[in-house]
Amino acid sequence: MSSPPSFPFARPQAWDPPAEYAKLRATNPVSRVQLWDGSQPWLVVKHKDVVSVLTDARLSKERTRPGFPEMSAGGKEAAKNKPTFVDIDPPRHMQQRSMVEPLFTYDAVARLRPHIQKTADMLLDAMVQGGCEQPVDLVEKFALPLPSYIIYGILGVPFEDLEFLTQQNAIRSNGSATATEASNANKTLLDYIGKLVDQRAQKPEDDLISKLVTEQVKPGHIERSDAVQIAFLMLVAGNATMVNMINLGVVALLRNPSQLEMLKADPSLSPAFVSELCRYHTGSAMATRRVAKVDIELAGHTIKAGEGIIAATQSASRDEDVFPDPDTFDILRFVNKEKGGRGEDWYKAMGYGWGEHRCVAEPLARAELEIVFATLFQRLPALKLAIPFEEIKWTPPDKDVGITELPVMW
Ligand code: HEM
Repeated sequence: MSSPPSFPFARPQAWDPPAEYAKLRATNPVSRVQLWDGSQPWLVVKHKDVVSVLTDARLSKERTRPGFPEMSAGGKEAAKNKPTFVDIDPPRHMQQRSMVEPLFTYDAVARLRPHIQKTADMLLDAMVQGGCEQPVDLVEKFALPLPSYIIYGILGVPFEDLEFLTQQNAIRSNGSATATEASNANKTLLDYIGKLVDQRAQKPEDDLISKLVTEQVKPGHIERSDAVQIAFLMLVAGNATMVNMINLGVVALLRNPSQLEMLKADPSLSPAFVSELCRYHTGSAMATRRVAKVDIELAGHTIKAGEGIIAATQSASRDEDVFPDPDTFDILRFVNKEKGGRGEDWYKAMGYGWGEHRCVAEPLARAELEIVFATLFQRLPALKLAIPFEEIKWTPPDKDVGITELPVMW
């Protein structure tokens, strides 16, 4: 018998999802793939099966369990570290997640919106009026600092350190640094957070780190090292994804000029645009992995205890049974029918995962993207790429889709 196809699949070009997904949805929705270490977990590609995997309490996210699908040697090593809630199963998962969740609810984020808007305006002011010579790299001047400044504000990082930490975070995650540089940057960030935890223990302020210290560490619910890890997780978890989604959104609009005109004429379309962006492009496609704790049946297959499962959210978001005409980018897809849209359900798109581990910061990520796309083209209506689409620097084809540099002019 021939061995299963290697996974992750590669994007055929630019930002198109791997072609294998559409084929498997049609012919073999629950199949085996082969990873870098020779292991052969299951790959699930239909929306209904992905929902089933991500809501099944018989499947575990604990990376220490034998059979958990790891995507690289580095990942396998990292899996030995003490986990944060992202890699913990219920009920302990919710105990830890609920320590940060109140800061990211839709209500809490609504209160943050004026600050996000002000930060976006300030960065655009600096880009436009700062005498920057065009073309400008939008990543450096806008897409990277915006989400960094917002999450650092929530954590309680002092303003004067923002630029330095943003640089360290970029080195850690942008893929062009060497392994040593990336690991040094990682350590710098962890040490920094550790010092901040100690400072807030002495003198609490109104921020997430102080909350973790006073409400969790001091009463003995978690250790100091857990507080450092949780704060670090919040600092890094959404960083590269946010940057990539801003870049992908800019290019998606420039490639669809009639939709860009609609958004320019009516910036209140921004939430619908962001929902479609987060369906069409999956900025974080490899997090939704599980291992079976007991034998289970899925779509006519028996998945045995100890076998790994990869739930392909990227494929589920293009499932033609849920999103008609899935490869078409349509800003009106999630607009109500009464308002002339298609009236589809944005919540079903899988960009933020599904079930208990669905992105805790989704309301924040959406608010940032909505503000970016309601503002950017109002402020810079002539914004365009300074290079042809074909010359855009994409992330490697077998990694999450993203753009590493985006030279623009206006
Ligand atoms: C557009 C931006 C973002 C996307 C597309 C995204 C995507 C995702 C996805 C797919 C998951 C699910 C992982 C799973 O099932 O295992 C997830 C979880 C998570 N995300 Fe996000 N994310 C974004 C922004 C952020 C931001 C800004 C933060 C932090 C401030 C963040 C923090 C987290 C955390 C902590 C989890 C783990 C939740 C849990 O396990 O309970 N994300 N995200």
